[in-house]
Amino acid sequence: MKFFVDSAVIEDIKKAKALGLADGVTTNPTLIRRSGQDFQDAITEIANLVKGPVLAEPVSETVKDIVKEGKILASWAPNVVVKIPLTHAGLEATHILKHENIETALTLVFSSAQALLAAKAGAKYICPFVGRLDDIDTPGMELIADIMQIYDNYPELDTEVIVASVRTPGHITESAALGADGVTAPLKVIEQMVRHPLTDIGIEKFLKDWNASGQ
Ligand code: G3P
Repeated sequence: MKFFVDSAVIEDIKKAKALGLADGVTTNPTLIRRSGQDFQDAITEIANLVKGPVLAEPVSETVKDIVKEGKILASWAPNVVVKIPLTHAGLEATHILKHENIETALTLVFSSAQALLAAKAGAKYICPFVGRLDDIDTPGMELIADIMQIYDNYPELDTEVIVASVRTPGHITESAALGADGVTAPLKVIEQMVRHPLTDIGIEKFLKDWNASGQ
């Protein structure tokens, strides 16, 4: 299972990498703004730091402009993947870039219909947003189950499902149970996965007993 870091903050990516949890990195315009870095500087630095895919998102909206901007982003480093919002223009651009051997990830995916179209267009990855579905009282993980079922039915669809808008450790473990190819998570959620209150209590008791043993 692939763990992508959903961040453009270099320190967060380094911390995840130290845990072996930076198989790739996802960014978006909001995360770039939040990092306070120049877009190209951030992407090239991240692409040097991790071996895996670094997803960078164009802000263009027409097919021609998405393709043009996508090619520029892809030229910044060999492991940059062009992350395109799932629109009509985005699907067409994905199809064109696929034939130019440029990898794409379709993002802002909220339905299994969109996921099916993304795979047919030749996207290397899709990023379905589970947290934002939960926000509108629609179970995000049910979408992942539906997509996995559809993709499993057709082995020739080799698009990888990277679950995004991850807000809780449960989103990650449920993604694993469903066989999703990966997740992209903020460092905060990864840190939450590490901790368990019984682990903390157990350590406290071991240390207390050790100190009492006089050794
Ligand atoms: O990878 C997508 C992610 O950045 C969106 O997360 O929490 O803004 O819905 P969120």
